[in-house]
Amino acid sequence: MRKKLSVILTGDHEESCSIVAGLVAEVVVRGDVCLGLATGGSMEGVYAELRRRHDAEGLSFRSVATVNLDEYVGLEPSHVQSYRHYMDHKLFDHVDIDKARTCVPRGTLPRDKMLEEFQGFLDSRPRDLQLLGLGSNGHIGFNEPAPFFAPWAHVVTLEEGTRRDNQRFFSSLDEVPSQAVTMGIGDILNAARIVLLVHGPSKAEPLRALLQDDRVCPEVPCTALKLHPDVVVVVDRGLARLAGVEKECAGLAGEEIDDGQKRR
Ligand code: GLP
Repeated sequence: MRKKLSVILTGDHEESCSIVAGLVAEVVVRGDVCLGLATGGSMEGVYAELRRRHDAEGLSFRSVATVNLDEYVGLEPSHVQSYRHYMDHKLFDHVDIDKARTCVPRGTLPRDKMLEEFQGFLDSRPRDLQLLGLGSNGHIGFNEPAPFFAPWAHVVTLEEGTRRDNQRFFSSLDEVPSQAVTMGIGDILNAARIVLLVHGPSKAEPLRALLQDDRVCPEVPCTALKLHPDVVVVVDRGLARLAGVEKECAGLAGEEIDDGQKRR
């Protein structure tokens, strides 16, 4: 039978992060797995919780490979706002992962080499789980609204709104790169399971487009997730209410688990 998106409704973003970290940890303990990772403010709590589990519970990343969704074009890996720096700083430098098995696309390579290297990694390792955040325009990775979906790794020109959303991490809008390299929609859908963490009032509109009907439209890229058989959306009740999708969330709720949380 066709599986639908499933939704886990939480009390707040902190609980969302803890649940997402739990879903990641479930995969990590299987060993020899590949994780697709995401950056952004929403994910910070997820990585903090994974670090905590590593330190307090011995969660080991020794046999884990990772690949990130995207990277800014033109930022050196050592730049404080590069996604390589984000991942090193928020997770990799604090856990027992072998960094040689972590891939963040290299945004300073010549374009052909950059795409070849990134796509090569994606094609060589099926992902067991893909983490996703959501852009306020509905982007996933850096797949911006467009008249069509781009299936594979590509370079994208960022929308003004996306640059403004990310301006808070830079000292001025001018410093936010205008281009990025990203997994394509086909790459994202190739993961065995996808976990989408939705946080913040600016995400209400794309969340509604994702949950309220069956339409898949490249103008709201996250709607492509409706084509995947195993997607878990984790969102807090306040945002679901703001988006007017509480009824849809209730209809898509997963099964009860021991601690009373909902999951598929
Ligand atoms: C960036 C990233 C996306 C991320 C999005 C949400 O644009 N490229 O992968 O999902 O931001 O970010 P935030 O969590 O900061 O709202």
